[in-house]
Amino acid sequence: MSAAAPFQRLVYYSRNEVDGDADALDAAIDEILSLSQRNNAQADVTGALLFNTGCFGQVLEGPRRAVEATFERIQRDPRHSDVTLLAFETTDARAFPNWSMAYVGAKPAQAVRYNEIAASSGFDPSRMTANRLLETLHGLAMEKEA
Ligand SMILES: Cc1cc2nc3c(=O)[nH]c(=O)nc-3n(C[C@H](O)[C@H](O)[C@H](O)COP(=O)(O)O)c2cc1C
Repeated sequence: MSAAAPFQRLVYYSRNEVDGDADALDAAIDEILSLSQRNNAQADVTGALLFNTGCFGQVLEGPRRAVEATFERIQRDPRHSDVTLLAFETTDARAFPNWSMAYVGAKPAQAVRYNEIAASSGFDPSRMTANRLLETLHGLAMEKEA
């Protein structure tokens, strides 16, 4: 028998509810990221956030209670809806040890464009499994880190 894993990992996707043009979305995502980076650093939470085609995808990892408290706040946030949990699991190692919250999406303004053109072929987290979403975010974060 192995000891309980030290970290909790949570993966979800949700639907964007920020109204307005690309600049409004840009500003909203900047605000979400700076809040996240400050709160998560204090709470020992790490992870990554993706925005594309009208959806957010996010991985949160850290001590279980910190991840749960963070997710409870996130779920109440009116800037998104239909928050759908894909995974809630223990893990021995963080996938994003160096990121209080990595943003791995395109610039929001570009993402809005993708949103318009990629309805059928683009990133659609609602068709992804937790592992695929985790791998996608992890690959993008590692590219950023390199
Ligand atoms: C897509 C999305 C992701 C978010 N990710 C985080 C996060 O990782 N950490 C965090 O503290 N807040 C995150 N937030 C913001 C929270 O919902 C909330 O606004 C923030 O934690 C401040 O909560 P408070 O006003 O209750 O203090 C996120 C919000 C959205 C819409």
